[in-house]
Amino acid sequence: MGLPGWPGKKILVVGDLILDHFVRGSVKRISPEAPVPVVEVEDEHFILGGAANVASNIKALGGIPFLVGAIGDDRSGSDFIQLMQYSGLSSSGVIQVHGRPTSLKTRVIANHQQVVRVDREVSERLKLDAAKAVKSAISRYIGDCDAVVVSDYAKGLFSPSLLAWIGEASRKARVPYVVDPKPVHFPYPGATVVTPNRSEAQGFFGREFRTEDAGEAGRRLIEKAGWEALLITLGSEGMVLCRKKGRPVHIPARVREVFDVTGAGDTVVAVMALGLSAGLSMEAAARTANAAAGVVVGKAGTAVCTPRELEAALRAEQ
Ligand SMILES: Nc1ncnc2c1ncn2[C@@H]1O[C@H](COP(=O)(O)OP(=O)(O)OP(=O)(O)O)[C@@H](O)[C@H]1O
Ligand SMILES: [Mg+2]
Repeated sequence: MGLPGWPGKKILVVGDLILDHFVRGSVKRISPEAPVPVVEVEDEHFILGGAANVASNIKALGGIPFLVGAIGDDRSGSDFIQLMQYSGLSSSGVIQVHGRPTSLKTRVIANHQQVVRVDREVSERLKLDAAKAVKSAISRYIGDCDAVVVSDYAKGLFSPSLLAWIGEASRKARVPYVVDPKPVHFPYPGATVVTPNRSEAQGFFGREFRTEDAGEAGRRLIEKAGWEALLITLGSEGMVLCRKKGRPVHIPARVREVFDVTGAGDTVVAVMALGLSAGLSMEAAARTANAAAGVVVGKAGTAVCTPRELEAALRAEQ
């Protein structure tokens, strides 16, 4: 199978924005101040995270992302905008909210092991003015896009009314609407496909589940929520696709050397949106997403997949 026909497709990505900060170094001694290691810093860098990583994935795969979300008017906020510019992503849909901190996650990694993670963020709901600015940014882009993604990290961007409005706007625009969800915001009205990981799916079902039972539980959930499909991602077990009609399909993960599983879920939504915008069936899009996620977990750091790598991965599957 060659690459699906999605180059140039425009994808609106709405979601919580995060700045990922990596501090790498080595440990040679224990601190005299407290029983903790002293990390001598050798390298430090920032990566676009949360919904912005979905946008990076779409761009790397040849699509055109429009990102809408909120950051603060602080130092991390300007770092975020600068990083978007460096990455060739338009920041015109990113709202800088006065007095709100930008979500910043600092990971300190010493001798290839994470020592500590430091989070700076508030998850409070956006105030009315900022929420209005977000809505008007979405309105600006939605008429011109080929698919919509909601990337929900539950950091305060989404309210039930905003989600209902996005569902309705996607329906009117007649474009596929893909959601990477958090259980608190069930039911994401109007979603075409929702892509929870195992723990998010457990939140939806209200209980733990065995992989072989995911299909039946998923079918009932789809009926209740009115989605077309549910794609449960199961880490090293791959994914289970449930549709309104037809039997559930288990798509096994590609067994390969795993370096870093962070961000694989972002790759999955990015490919689902691109695939559906290009007219792939739900199952073909899911299989392509699984192949792309397999590429990304084989790379270190929040990584993306290129068309060439995806093509090779799809070829290897035949
Ligand atoms: N250990 C692994 N081996 C092979 N493939 C994997 C592994 N972990 C993840 N994947 C691939 O990535 C997909 C998404 O992974 P996962 O279910 O862990 O999502 P997630 O928890 O949302 O990830 P994140 O939130 O870090 O982005 C899986 O469906 C699978 O295709
Ligand atoms: Mg995820």
